[in-house]
Amino acid sequence: MMDEPGTRNELIEAARQAFVDRFGYDPQACGVAPGRVELLGNHTDYNEGLVLPAAIDRGIAIAGSMREGPQSRLASAQFEGYVTFDATEPDHDPKAKWADYPKGVVSELNKAGGEIGNFDAIIVSNIPSGAGVSSSAALLVSTAQLLLTLYPNLRFMDGMDLAKLCRRAENNFVGAPVGLLDQFSSVFGRAGHALYMDCRSLEHRAVRLPQEEAAILIADTGVKHALASGGGYSERRAQCEAASAWFAQQTGLPIRSLRDVTVELLESLSDEIDPILGKRARHVIYENKRVEMGAAALESGNVSAFGEMLSNTHVSCRRFFENSCDEVDSLVDIAERQEGVYGAKLTGGGWGGCAVIIHHPGATETLINALNKEYTARFGQSPSLLPTVAAQGAEAALFS
Ligand code: GLA
Repeated sequence: MMDEPGTRNELIEAARQAFVDRFGYDPQACGVAPGRVELLGNHTDYNEGLVLPAAIDRGIAIAGSMREGPQSRLASAQFEGYVTFDATEPDHDPKAKWADYPKGVVSELNKAGGEIGNFDAIIVSNIPSGAGVSSSAALLVSTAQLLLTLYPNLRFMDGMDLAKLCRRAENNFVGAPVGLLDQFSSVFGRAGHALYMDCRSLEHRAVRLPQEEAAILIADTGVKHALASGGGYSERRAQCEAASAWFAQQTGLPIRSLRDVTVELLESLSDEIDPILGKRARHVIYENKRVEMGAAALESGNVSAFGEMLSNTHVSCRRFFENSCDEVDSLVDIAERQEGVYGAKLTGGGWGGCAVIIHHPGATETLINALNKEYTARFGQSPSLLPTVAAQGAEAALFS
């Protein structure tokens, strides 16, 4: 199954039209933000490590207008009707969990002095949800763009502050203990580039992805994952924290997170650490190296070396972080056997979702055919295949 995203302007127009259809009048503005693909840097962000994602050419647009009175009305093109809440005190509605993302942004903007009043808004998306390409960050960041346009108290907020605010919305209001990777990518995306960031210093730079040589295919298994509390994600987070605390206690060194544990230290204590914690730490510590090496490979034009890093990451996900699943492993395995494929790995939190495959643009067709045929033969259902390019970050559009 192949699915074309359409352009960003088409997405904005679809949101404008959906707003008119749902609310019967014209919206004032629209926020639009992309999803992301994690190229390298798997579970490194909350360990203060290194990441290398790219924003993708799919995302969410949310069209809206200010509204007088005590209630906001929030709709999604995917569902009938709308949910209502008061923007001065957003509440949780167990029947509309999706609304927690925009409400979380309202709540955090208000804490920061945004004075967000009520509004009508509708969400339109061309990104698969729960698939590992961060529809959640696209929703958070597009909402922030819309609200900062409607209620401009904080409109000059710096991009990193905006990304951090959206992360707090997801941590505090949605209850998902995620790092900064997704929101950062959605804000800072740059067409034709990957984004390298040090999650400790928050320094970042764009790294060119040579489109003529390195095409990106996202292959979605359709297996849904959830990052909210209780799942494998929070367990892994806790294990990483326990591993870092163990190294600190064992060595007496000022170790604050796994970022402070060197490869040498890990190797010297690998027989002593609890085997599970050791595996988790090994994934994260070497993943930081793979991000550095992968970014350097891209910067020197070595796409094969970059692809090799992705494949190494996937092996580490399988063996050490144990956050893959049969479906994603199978996509990676099929992809890696094809001519013109440089590397493949799971992308995002794991336990389902998508694989990302870096390949020569001339190989796209045979790759897609092989994935469709072999994956369907094994799982009785075809993967969703999303050829993508690195795209620009979030923005707002004014309609009036
Ligand atoms: C999810 C989270 C991110 C990051 C990745 C794994 O996408 O939202 O913060 O931890 O998983 O790299």
